[in-house]
Amino acid sequence: MANNTEELQTLVLTTLDRENVIADSKDLKTVNGEDLNQLALLGVLNSLKSKEMIDYSAINREFWSLSGEGEQVAEQGSHEARVYEAIPAGEEGIAMDEIKKILGKAANIGQGKAIKNGWIKNNGAKLVRTADSIVDQTKNDLLEIKKTTTHSNTKTLNDLKKRKLVEKQKVTTYKVSKGPQFALEIKKEATDITAEMLQSGEWKNASFKKYNFDAAGISPDGGHLHPLMKVRQEFREIFFEMGFEEMPTNCFAESSFWNFDALFQPQQHPARDAHDTFFLKDPANTDRFPRELMEKIKVTHENGGDTGSTGYNYVWKEEDAGKLLLRTHTTAVSSNMLYKLAEKTKKEGVFRPAKYFSIDRVFRNESVDATHLAEFHQIEGVICDKNLTLGDLIGFMDVFFKKMGMDKIRFKPTYNPYTEPSMEIFSYHTGLKKWVEIGNSGMFRPEMLLPLGLPPDVRVIAWGLGLERPTMIKYNISNIRDLLGHKVKIDMIKEYPVCRLDKKMGKELVGVSEQ
Ligand code: PHE
Repeated sequence: MANNTEELQTLVLTTLDRENVIADSKDLKTVNGEDLNQLALLGVLNSLKSKEMIDYSAINREFWSLSGEGEQVAEQGSHEARVYEAIPAGEEGIAMDEIKKILGKAANIGQGKAIKNGWIKNNGAKLVRTADSIVDQTKNDLLEIKKTTTHSNTKTLNDLKKRKLVEKQKVTTYKVSKGPQFALEIKKEATDITAEMLQSGEWKNASFKKYNFDAAGISPDGGHLHPLMKVRQEFREIFFEMGFEEMPTNCFAESSFWNFDALFQPQQHPARDAHDTFFLKDPANTDRFPRELMEKIKVTHENGGDTGSTGYNYVWKEEDAGKLLLRTHTTAVSSNMLYKLAEKTKKEGVFRPAKYFSIDRVFRNESVDATHLAEFHQIEGVICDKNLTLGDLIGFMDVFFKKMGMDKIRFKPTYNPYTEPSMEIFSYHTGLKKWVEIGNSGMFRPEMLLPLGLPPDVRVIAWGLGLERPTMIKYNISNIRDLLGHKVKIDMIKEYPVCRLDKKMGKELVGVSEQ
């Protein structure tokens, strides 16, 4: 009862009313004359302060108190003094075993100290007194500390602390004064304005509880993005910053036509095998692709058509192009977009340069391991303009990857059916201390662009990279199955922080990579 909140409130308010100030709450006593629980008091003070009824400041104090053993020594004397007292005066002395019977454990501790103090000696089988009288300084020191809560000699305090006879204590008490809203009664404060208060007009007289802006907020339980989506957002922003337009990628199922044929990938290419690609069963086929374009693509594959190429010299079959599949790369979307751009150019009579990007899921019939999954995300960029060169591609890649915080970029020639020249992109991994492959790039072939209907002087540079690898590096994930797929622990989505790529935005972007 003594320290309950209401009683403490009344005690503080009535004392202040009477005396104007409480110089030190250590002197406050409850009605029953008990000391206050200062922690309970602090709660009451905070609540009164938030209502501006009082103000307070803390008084910190240190003091010393006796431990349980210290109390015993203060009362009965130190072990050494008790050993001395146990020995009769005179030559005769007493055997240690006898002392042990009287004092127990204290006998052993006390004996050594008493000898050291020159109070007693060991005379063969017995202990005898060597001093006529003694002063039990330890007991006196402890009594002083008990009375005054400190000692004039700090060394004594530290020695007694080492002997675990005294303990240092810290207490906080409070100085309390009246606040601007001081009153003996506590007005109930409203926390929110309610419909009832508005209707009754009660809001006019109500006093409202102040907002506590220091209170810790509740951490939100929903709305977390998957790490891949966080990194995707960062990449999207880089593309938007550079003036790119996002391609619509909401079509996981594609025809072989857009995924392969429109990209000048021959129908007997190994990637078009069921071992590498997931083909759909139901429906398995489509014929929904532009007929006129189909005819042009057919002749280009067979003999080059009017592209100046010899083509692949085989008989192109519509039924192969009509096979539905889960897209194996987002370049399927890019080929479709380039066709739309060519159609628009024809309609408007002018070619307008374009920059497209996409970041979305692709599917490959691969065996799954720590770094491979059957589905993953690709980041793809496409730039179409007149007279672009390989130099533009290299220069652009340099700026793009620097924006992502990758400074050292290298290129290695490679082969893609739809680009010539083609280059794999490598970045120097400072952690692994080696060059790692980060993407693939190239200039789309005329055999791909001319049938789509783009003007002959239009060049298209394009590149693709995975989203998983940068995400795994960013979040230090070593197994891709911890990031994507059915084994993922959903909790990790809450745990990973927001993604910030180490982007570079200024002059340092200019300059060309190591070749
Ligand atoms: N489509 C390629 C891949 O899946 C990437 C790429 C895109 C390469 C564009 C060149 C040009 O790896």
